[in-house]
Amino acid sequence: MAISESTINEIKYRNDIESVISPYVSLKRRGKNLIGLCPFHNEKTPSFTVYPESGSFYCFGCGAGGDVFTFVKLIENLDYIDAVRLLAERSGIAVEEQDYDNSLSKLKEKIYEINRETAKFFHGYLMSDSGKWALDYLTGRGLKISTIKHFGLGAAPDSWDSLINHLKNKGYSFSDMLAANVIGKSQKGSYYDRFRKRVMFPIIDIRGRVIAFSGRAMPGEDKQGGKYVNTSDTPVYKKSENLFGMNFAKNHCAESIILVEGNMDVISLHQAGFQNTVAALGTSFTEQQAKILSRYTKEIILTLDADAAGVKAVKRAGDILKNTGLKVRVVSVPDGKDPDEFIKKHGSARFKAVLEGAVNEIEYKLLTAVGDIDVASDDGKVKYISRAAEIIAESADSIERDVYIGRLSQKYGISRTALTSRVEEIRKSNAKKNRKKEISNIIRPKFDNNAPNPEKRLHPSASAAEESVISVLFSHPDFFEQAYDLLKPEQMITSLNTRIYEKICEVLGSGGTLQISSFGEVLSDSQMGYLVSIINSDRARENPLIVLKDSISVILDEGMKKDRSDIKNMAVDEWAENLERIIKNKKRGSENG
Ligand code: CTP
Ligand code: MN
Repeated sequence: MAISESTINEIKYRNDIESVISPYVSLKRRGKNLIGLCPFHNEKTPSFTVYPESGSFYCFGCGAGGDVFTFVKLIENLDYIDAVRLLAERSGIAVEEQDYDNSLSKLKEKIYEINRETAKFFHGYLMSDSGKWALDYLTGRGLKISTIKHFGLGAAPDSWDSLINHLKNKGYSFSDMLAANVIGKSQKGSYYDRFRKRVMFPIIDIRGRVIAFSGRAMPGEDKQGGKYVNTSDTPVYKKSENLFGMNFAKNHCAESIILVEGNMDVISLHQAGFQNTVAALGTSFTEQQAKILSRYTKEIILTLDADAAGVKAVKRAGDILKNTGLKVRVVSVPDGKDPDEFIKKHGSARFKAVLEGAVNEIEYKLLTAVGDIDVASDDGKVKYISRAAEIIAESADSIERDVYIGRLSQKYGISRTALTSRVEEIRKSNAKKNRKKEISNIIRPKFDNNAPNPEKRLHPSASAAEESVISVLFSHPDFFEQAYDLLKPEQMITSLNTRIYEKICEVLGSGGTLQISSFGEVLSDSQMGYLVSIINSDRARENPLIVLKDSISVILDEGMKKDRSDIKNMAVDEWAENLERIIKNKKRGSENG
């Protein structure tokens, strides 16, 4: 639900940020800004900054930031709408029901429709004569026709415009297709099907709506676009908040849920009778996914591959699940196979046995900690025991610790007392470390500067460039057309910045004024802080045009290496000239009109 922009603006105009914040924080002027002690974390020297000019605040200590609405929301613990209401009341502005515009919910409905139509199209194609190549592949991997239908699997033709033409005939607009992320738009402005010559897995939410797609390339053909092409986040889909197979698993999971790595694993386990199987979308498991699981079941069985990546994934998932109160067991599938391959080779009865013998997390860690250590040698033995002691020390349960200490001392012929005192030493030092961590968590509770955009770590230079583009456009909205000509939202690399840039394009593209408040509903609190810190950074101060141009070329470089030559070859002068012309035309337009 959204409140109309004009109402938001009026409320904001009547509640300048200084007067809203000053009852809560004692502020001192510093240049054109104000500083004070942050109300959102404990600090002795002020790092909380208010920027009257842009109507925003940002704390350099904890990363909290936003506009007046964000401030009230955080300090009064309200949700966004209620924060808006509170400020409206204070200044005597009525927020009428009709002020809530439903354009977002209308767009969402359109996307659901497009997704359903797209899934039907892909399924129809898979079942047709021309889709034989894909059906052969799926049945070749052991899937029955009934399973294929149950999951609504499909295939995307080897074509750039089949889906577009189909959806166009059904009356859908390009902008809605783009919003659903089933099509893309090239730099030259032409549209194309995002999924081509791939087996298609629709992702279905708990309410049975198609929210996204995952497309797998044929074996040996994953050079272009990678093995999987997935829907990026859209208004109806957030990869981190959904699980593949949950729409079916939700009815079979009162006792336990099996968590696997891949979509194919989910499908073949369901076919083999394990309908309580789900997969994280993409490889990393998130806190939101853990929360969803904890609403449905008591126990999670992690069956991740025993390779290095699998061990890491188990550790990550295990750490996250620990905080949910769910019981966790780890199954290591023999011979490092994934569950899909295992079942195909040994059948479901064997897999059931594997599940029943599922070791707990400690056993699993003890098992895999051997790694490449040669435990037959004395050296190796010492090395392994000291690793094992660390693992045992992680258990909070003294009886559990005792059991494993007993087992290890027997197996390796070492003194039980020695091992016990070693484990206790480690526990003491861990407790000290944890206390330190806890204290720093109290000091910086809600916000972590890297957390809002975790993809930054993967794409350091591209994300920095994206931030520059955002920053420049906030202070120089006149550059928008130039920027948009060269860079479309879907060409950004990190998904958070893509979302921010999408909103920027929406606002500036329709002639609106860019302001932080436009993001209050689109972004979470910590993402708001991130945005404000970008906007108030100094990136755009000198040579904004060159910064913009260079940043875009960095982003395009990372994204589509092949298409980057255009801007690279355009001289800065030429660029500036181009821009001047646009601005002049605009002025002339507004003078005449
Ligand atoms: N994945 C992805 N993009 C990639 C690789 C993997 O999104 N480039 C995700 C997919 O959801 C995939 C899961 O990670 O299902 C596990 O990847 P992988 O083990 O490579 O795929 P499988 O599902 O095992 O696929 P297959 O059995 O068909 O090889
Ligand atoms: Mn597999």
